[in-house]
Amino acid sequence: MPHIVFNNYEDIKTPFEKNGVLFNFCAQSYNFTDKERRTEYKIGVSYENKEFLLTLKNKNEDKMLKADKITRVTPVTIVKEALNSFIQKVEGNIVFSNTNSFTALKIQPQKEYLKEIDYFVNEFQTTKEIQIEIGFGSGRHLLYQAKNNPDVQFIGLEIHTPSIEQLLKQLKIQNITNVLVVNYDARLFMEFINSNKVGKIFVHFPVPWDKKPHRRIYSNAFIDEALRVLKPSGTLELRTDSRKYFDFCVGLLTNLNSGKITIDINKDLQVSSKYEDRWKKQGKHIYDVVLEAQKEDEDINLKHDFSFDEIDLEKLVKNIPSKPMVEEDFVINIEEVFTIDKDSGLIQVTIGSFNRPLSKYIYIENKKARYFQGNPLPTSANIKAHERLKEILK
Ligand SMILES: C[S@@+](CC[C@H](N)C(=O)[O-])C[C@H]1O[C@@H](n2cnc3c(N)ncnc32)[C@H](O)[C@@H]1O
Repeated sequence: MPHIVFNNYEDIKTPFEKNGVLFNFCAQSYNFTDKERRTEYKIGVSYENKEFLLTLKNKNEDKMLKADKITRVTPVTIVKEALNSFIQKVEGNIVFSNTNSFTALKIQPQKEYLKEIDYFVNEFQTTKEIQIEIGFGSGRHLLYQAKNNPDVQFIGLEIHTPSIEQLLKQLKIQNITNVLVVNYDARLFMEFINSNKVGKIFVHFPVPWDKKPHRRIYSNAFIDEALRVLKPSGTLELRTDSRKYFDFCVGLLTNLNSGKITIDINKDLQVSSKYEDRWKKQGKHIYDVVLEAQKEDEDINLKHDFSFDEIDLEKLVKNIPSKPMVEEDFVINIEEVFTIDKDSGLIQVTIGSFNRPLSKYIYIENKKARYFQGNPLPTSANIKAHERLKEILK
């Protein structure tokens, strides 16, 4: 992490500009439990069309300036230039620095088919049918399907980076252009897909989690989302060697308001995955349960309004809840407050789902508040947490 340790510096008076880098504000940490200010600051920076924070704190007798972890930006040279420019402006005497920008910018290999989750919120559109494979692993099944169904737009979800790299390589070698790959938890991904657009969702040999069933891909919430994104007669297909997982899923899938299920044992598919080959060699049974959607669902709104009402920071810091709020489907924790003046400052929060909480800053300028670096993703947990947070901060 780039940082500079320094001493003997001039007074810091924001806003100022140096080498094209804008230093917009300097906010001081306010400990709302002890009701006193700490000698730690967050400095708001705009540079190269990006906004981020630097942390300024004591380091023994000296000061240390470094990138704030939550608002990290890439490439790292942007941060290094901001750190160097700040020290030049305050004419600090450098004790230690690892911000030399001589290390050439590492150009990321073009990963045309690897997409960030924001892409699915803001840009993704297709007139083609969508099919999704969850946890594609070696990618054998996904590659086969993509090659044989060129009119379908495939989305591959995986959380294991080497598997993703391997699939991207194969897409290039085999010249396959109808697959998008996302490194994202499949249990949350479906929230970003419009209703009634998906023909098939494949879940082949998911990790069985026999001892921790709450970590399984299948849950009531996952099935509801799958039914929403599937078009009528679209299917959610589980294939597993785990009898326990199979029974668990059949339990969840029976008694649904809509949807038809079909069960099979040792069914042959056109392509056999790496795991399937292994289990077949060991003589294990393979179980299939397919859920077929039967009705159209309402569309969702991905453009949620993440605005805040006016925030009276002076009043707020005296009454801020210091304990985390853990609800059934979301969490909120107010971590820290940084004040610029009585009407402006930063609030550091953790919000969203319990399994995938999100750290964010809320920037308040003359009582007007917004999420620093943009809004959270419109997941149902983030939306619920935001609405509650809005009430708390009012
Ligand atoms: C047992 S492997 C099966 C791989 C492949 N489907 C096959 O049949 O060979 C399970 C895969 O699911 C991935 N995975 C586990 N949990 C996931 C999640 N929540 N979202 C997306 N992928 C997940 C794992 O990284 C792993 O590659």
